[in-house]
Amino acid sequence: MRGGNVDLVVDLGAKSYPIEFCDIGDVGNRLLKRVSSRKIMIVTDENVKGHYLESARRSMEAAGYMVAYSVIPAGEESKTMEMAKKLLQDALSYGLDRSSCIVALGGGVVGDIAGFVASAYMRGIDFIQIPTTLLAQVDSSVGGKVAVNLPEAKNIVGAFHQPRAVFIDVKALRTLPQRELKTGLAEVIKYGIIWDDEFFKWLDLNMEKLLSLDMDVLKHAVRRSCEIKAQVVSQDETEHGLRAVLNFGHTLGHALEALTGYKKYTHGEAVAVGMVYASKIALRRGMISEGFFNSIVSLIERAGLPTVFDPFPFEDVLNKLTSDKKAYDGKIVFALVDENRKFFRLEINPCEIESVLYN
Ligand code: NAD
Ligand code: GLY
Repeated sequence: MRGGNVDLVVDLGAKSYPIEFCDIGDVGNRLLKRVSSRKIMIVTDENVKGHYLESARRSMEAAGYMVAYSVIPAGEESKTMEMAKKLLQDALSYGLDRSSCIVALGGGVVGDIAGFVASAYMRGIDFIQIPTTLLAQVDSSVGGKVAVNLPEAKNIVGAFHQPRAVFIDVKALRTLPQRELKTGLAEVIKYGIIWDDEFFKWLDLNMEKLLSLDMDVLKHAVRRSCEIKAQVVSQDETEHGLRAVLNFGHTLGHALEALTGYKKYTHGEAVAVGMVYASKIALRRGMISEGFFNSIVSLIERAGLPTVFDPFPFEDVLNKLTSDKKAYDGKIVFALVDENRKFFRLEINPCEIESVLYN
């Protein structure tokens, strides 16, 4: 699958797919190589619609596709079974068949729900990711995790359904609110911590340029993040082992999101806090040096992300940790790395977590 316009590949045998860097206005022709059906339904949200729907739609129509679209309200509140049902009904009313394709144009919310709908419609149809947030470009659009939430739990209904291609236009980040840029930077920093020391140091040198939207620097950050994610997913698509390293910072991050009703923190902000405390566990266990720990905290701070866990009663924290879908038999499992980026998936007992959180 290498060559031509293909920049990176998620190598999954027959399910392999490219990650291509291009203008949103150029996706139509690129789709021709990936999608044989003539019918496409774009799913986007109210914010992204105003910026990018027209150019995506026009380029697909110019390439000969019949294009319908559905717009969902922006935000996590849209990632529900009810909204998925509405999108499934839209797909049916637009006459999508087994050979049709759903295109997710937006951030992680759009990607997750559109992918979920594609995984379920007629037992699964093709889908394409055109991520428009930094978080979606470096994380959620790659790897095939698709899901919706229940009121009781986030991402609890879902599937592994790989896209046929991911088309990334880094310039789309120009319209992204600063807070959303920073939330994506949390996942970018994660790759430096879990995988690549050179990248970690590069991020340290280039953080200000990233925050000021230097396009060359951003493009390198997105590409390197995608390379790492593609490498991990290619080795462990369905998270039986290595892929869990991507959950670094997420155990406490998810607890913090849940404890604050998914309102106070964005996903990346909560992960940033989670990464600090996961690193503190690694420090106390002698897995990383104080120097590395301090540089992790400093990089997260320089990205404008939070580093301190809110002082919730530990009983509440524990409750969330044991009900997370990463817990096994009620045991709390953390993805940790040592300074050489060796990955450990460790059960951590509540006393150790309590001590790390409050001392
Ligand atoms: P989001 O999709 O809610 O987007 C954030 C905000 O930015 C929204 O208001 C959106 O309308 C707006 N927006 C998007 N692109 C824009 C642009 N280019 N210009 C202006 N505004 C724009 O949030 P997100 O952070 O992208 O994604 C979060 C979701 O991703 C969560 O639901 C999380 O569970 C999920 N996620 C999934 C995976 C996965 O592997 N599937 C991984 C990480 C996170
Ligand atoms: N975002 C974690 C994963 O894709 O596995």
